Amino acid sequence: MKVLVTGARGLLGMPLSRRLAERHEVHAMDLPEFDVTDADAVARIVAAVRPDRVVNLAAVTDVDGCERDESLAHRVNAVGARNVAAACRAEGAPMLQVSTDYVFDGTSASPWVESDVPRPLSAYGRSKLAGELAVREFAPRWAIVRAQSLYGAGKKSFPDAILARARSGQPLRVVTDQRVSPTWVEDLAVAIVAILDRGSEGVYHVANAGSCTWYECARATLDLSGLADVAIGETTAADLARPAPRPAYSVFNCSRFAQETGAGLRSWRDALAAYLSEAAAREAHS
Ligand SMILES: NC(=O)c1ccc[n+]([C@@H]2O[C@H](COP(=O)([O-])OP(=O)(O)OC[C@H]3O[C@@H](n4cnc5c(N)ncnc54)[C@H](OP(=O)(O)O)[C@@H]3O)[C@@H](O)[C@H]2O)c1
Repeated sequence: MKVLVTGARGLLGMPLSRRLAERHEVHAMDLPEFDVTDADAVARIVAAVRPDRVVNLAAVTDVDGCERDESLAHRVNAVGARNVAAACRAEGAPMLQVSTDYVFDGTSASPWVESDVPRPLSAYGRSKLAGELAVREFAPRWAIVRAQSLYGAGKKSFPDAILARARSGQPLRVVTDQRVSPTWVEDLAVAIVAILDRGSEGVYHVANAGSCTWYECARATLDLSGLADVAIGETTAADLARPAPRPAYSVFNCSRFAQETGAGLRSWRDALAAYLSEAAAREAHS
């Protein structure tokens, strides 16, 4: 299968392109050679590659940056997704779009299912929801994978930031009032390959199993890294007062994905332990 991946040098794009390349022909595209906001260029490149599937990861993912510049968020995350979907329609190529828990407002008392009504709180969430709607409207066949709270190698993410701060002796304060399912991009990449291989369609929630607050995730990161004696202060989203509001409760119900593929992802804690041990091994060899 020939798969064109956009945003391919990002946090998720790197492991996904690598895993796809084990069994498929991958055309990994990113800025500057592939700009999703340039509709003509997108159409030209997709027509030249003639992919069997297109995976759109290209996005502005700086949530607070999106709040400050909603028009950029809209251009890339919404219009960009529409441009990719329109190019897919012209070529008859099925499209897989990666979206986010930020399409929800975080007020649910139980894990979010795919049919729950999105109500984004932030500019990033609004732009990603508009991207989903464009994919549904324009792509000839589509899957939307909603992911959340990603971390992994290659780009600094939450566990790395916690470890760096702890090792530099700086004080740590982490929010106790946001519940998430931290997800390792390696596990998400395997899940996306499974969805592509099956030709599955529709919306899927995919995350490592279980949930924690960001505080609990930071605690686990330190404990698993031999830093159990480092203290973490508690704080709240209101205290941090970041430009973009975050959903307080982002836990996904992933049973649709598990039924489709025969298995869900491992627990967030097991995935985090595997990531940290890989990262420690990489550090030891560098
Ligand atoms: N990170 C998370 O926690 C998270 C959670 C849920 C969903 N998602 C979604 O997952 C997908 C992948 O996210 P990620 O974490 O891998 O983000 P990322 O590391 O920021 O990767 C996104 C990639 O898209 C590129 N890009 C930005 N503007 C573009 C444009 N106009 N045309 C083409 N490419 C462009 C970026 O390039 P530059 O780096 O040069 O800007 C980057 O390489 C995104 O759709 C995101 O919304 C992420």
